[in-house]
Amino acid sequence: MSHEKISVTFEQDHDRLDALFTTFQQQKRKDMAKAKEAFVEFKFGLQRHIVWEEDVLFPKWEENSGMAEGGPTQVMRTEHRIIGECLEGIHQKVQANNPDSDLEEQRLVDVLKSHNMKEERILYPSIDQVITDQERAELYQAMKDIPEERYRTCCGSGLA
Ligand SMILES: [Fe+2]
Ligand SMILES: [Fe+2]
Repeated sequence: MSHEKISVTFEQDHDRLDALFTTFQQQKRKDMAKAKEAFVEFKFGLQRHIVWEEDVLFPKWEENSGMAEGGPTQVMRTEHRIIGECLEGIHQKVQANNPDSDLEEQRLVDVLKSHNMKEERILYPSIDQVITDQERAELYQAMKDIPEERYRTCCGSGLA
């Protein structure tokens, strides 16, 4: 993974998360257990992705580009909070075995779609441009070093 460009790795993670969410949506009225499993993996995965961005990727980009306050990473961080709220709304319904979360899902998909597009078109390519190979290896190491407890949380506690 450490040789891949940041844009490649993070786009692949967006795609992987999209597929998990689609599985949840397709299964929730057929097989709730299977849907839940996909949702939990999606939730942990998305939380990990956001921690990778906010704790590792964005600070490096802000440092190297000299753009922090009022820059694109600030907008992305704000959108992450909205994404988190949408995620929590669906999570509550999943916990209650209630499949009627279509509105919440639509809201999440809408926000996530434009958010990911902005990252893929603008931010990730820009990050690849401003970091050296050495710095990229350090970013991947820092991502690996993040303890699981930072993102494997459900209902603000431990595992689902
Ligand atoms: Fe993001
Ligand atoms: Fe992202």
